Amino acid sequence: MRILSGIQPSGALHLGNYFGMMRPAIELQDKGEAFYFIADYHSMTSLFDANERRKNTLDVALDFLACGLDPKKSVFFKQSDVPEVTELAWLLTTLTPMAMLENCHSYKDKLARGLAPNHGIFAYPVLMAADILIYDSNLVPVGKDQKQHVEVTRDIAIKFNNTYGETFVVPKEQIQESTAIVPGVDGQKMSKSYGNTIEIFGDEKSLKKKIMGIQMDSRTPQEPKPDADKNLAIQLLKLVAPANVAKEFEDKLRAGGLGYGDLKKALFKNYWNYFADARNKRAELAANLDFVNKILSDGATKARTLAQKVLKRARKNCGIE
Ligand code: ADP
Ligand code: TRP
Repeated sequence: MRILSGIQPSGALHLGNYFGMMRPAIELQDKGEAFYFIADYHSMTSLFDANERRKNTLDVALDFLACGLDPKKSVFFKQSDVPEVTELAWLLTTLTPMAMLENCHSYKDKLARGLAPNHGIFAYPVLMAADILIYDSNLVPVGKDQKQHVEVTRDIAIKFNNTYGETFVVPKEQIQESTAIVPGVDGQKMSKSYGNTIEIFGDEKSLKKKIMGIQMDSRTPQEPKPDADKNLAIQLLKLVAPANVAKEFEDKLRAGGLGYGDLKKALFKNYWNYFADARNKRAELAANLDFVNKILSDGATKARTLAQKVLKRARKNCGIE
């Protein structure tokens, strides 16, 4: 089984990325042949600073490796080191109905937020389809917001197969329901573009400030809170604390007698501990960038060999070769 996923270098990675995509992807490393990449071509739809892209790309590499991506088990590479993917995107785009792209939530969401979308944002699901299909991927671990894009990929693959004969493996998404949508500090989906993130790595003081700044309601500590499970700090605590600890806090909040300040302090403490090992690993990697760059270039070589093979199959079947 081939497993594939990508993540954009469009800003610092956060708990939504970690629990929605990175941790499930890391867990899947032992279940098949995993391909994970840094989607730098994708980041061009929303980030227009070259140096920032370069810096973010390295940061994503460090973050992912520090969190447990094991280059001995997985092929880890930068999307643009396999330029074949852009050619495949063209072959696919000619079979992609406009209406299917117009219907994509992420695109509609950008329109609704008053952004003037560029063509890249509109066409992005086709590039994502190429990313997936060019490695004969079976399984795509992603957060829930990407489900529709994998469905688009499936539709495009089936259409290509029907039009030009059996060419692509038809993939499936894998979504971990318990962490499908991690909430941000404002209660909306945690996202780089909403400015509501808690980063995986960062400066202790500013992260503490962010967590202590999570908005709560005005009920007094003594009041029982029958809706304790809906509390944002409790939801986040369940991700980073041992189950019995999170339950204890939830029960206390429900019964009354636990102040929001104490709850948020506990959230910060557990969050900080959760990533302690990864933080040390990241510092080691950051001091050894040659090693990190070698991982990415070795990964690119492996990924490119496979991509060339699949692209050739597609070119032949559609009559270009
Ligand atoms: P962002 O919305 O912050 O720009 P990306 O679109 O780069 O994040 O997402 C990278 C991966 O992380 C995707 O698989 C996405 O589904 C997952 N992801 C992002 N935010 C969340 C979240 N809040 N909850 C669960 N998964 C998420
Ligand atoms: N679109 C994904 C995101 O923003 C990143 C991505 C690009 C991806 N290509 C992919 C994810 C292929 C899975 C498979 O999160």
